[in-house]
Amino acid sequence: MRTPYLAGNWKMNLDRRAALDLVGTLREHVGTRTDVEVAVFPPFVYIDEVARALAGSPVRVGAQNCCDEEKGAFTGEVSVSQLRDVGAEIVVLGHSERRHIYGEADELVNRKAQRALDGGLDVILCVGETLEERKGGLTEKVVRTQLQGGLAGVATRDMDRVTIAYEPVWAIGTGVVATPAQAGEVHAYVRGLLSGLFSTDVAQTVRIQYGGSVKASNVKELMAVGDVDGALVGGASLKADDFLPILDFAR
Ligand code: PGA
Repeated sequence: MRTPYLAGNWKMNLDRRAALDLVGTLREHVGTRTDVEVAVFPPFVYIDEVARALAGSPVRVGAQNCCDEEKGAFTGEVSVSQLRDVGAEIVVLGHSERRHIYGEADELVNRKAQRALDGGLDVILCVGETLEERKGGLTEKVVRTQLQGGLAGVATRDMDRVTIAYEPVWAIGTGVVATPAQAGEVHAYVRGLLSGLFSTDVAQTVRIQYGGSVKASNVKELMAVGDVDGALVGGASLKADDFLPILDFAR
């Protein structure tokens, strides 16, 4: 049984006050629930305070990125151990904005993934095709390359700390959500890849989130798809009124 995993990727949004208000409401709403797993990914500078505000709550805190190096002269970077030090337990890697705006290639994503897992952070690895790639019939190829590249050298025993997020680039921040059928097709494909790369056991236990214009109004039908195990939510994770109903999709 894969527990639904709902995560809020705040990107470069919110200020200290808004972040603390949001997690205060979130903490109260989630209480001691165990039917869903919930995580938030604040900007680096708020992780510390958000983690403190959520101490003792099942809501987990993660980072939106990390450095592939352990420590040293890497101006502007933040290390895995520093993230852990301020309360982060997870890191999102390979997000399309990192890939497309900042030019992160699979090799770098892979080094970050290995560094994160070695250093004790769980990983959400994002994969997904652009509209052009989908139109060109390249969806599976792109997803395969990103998945294989991102997870190269990752030990099977570490895969219980890895989540995959399928995020079609054309659906991110556009309001155009993938249909349940489109998501289901790619999620099933990813599960098959995990089986080949690791084991059927890994394929059955790793959660695959969908991301891209998830809202309260579409989350239920997406979550009804067998291979969709959660959501990575951007825009709709910034306000309690939008995010809390997403957590309650099954109610
Ligand atoms: P969105 O972003 O929900 O605003 O489309 C999703 C994401 O980028 O993770």
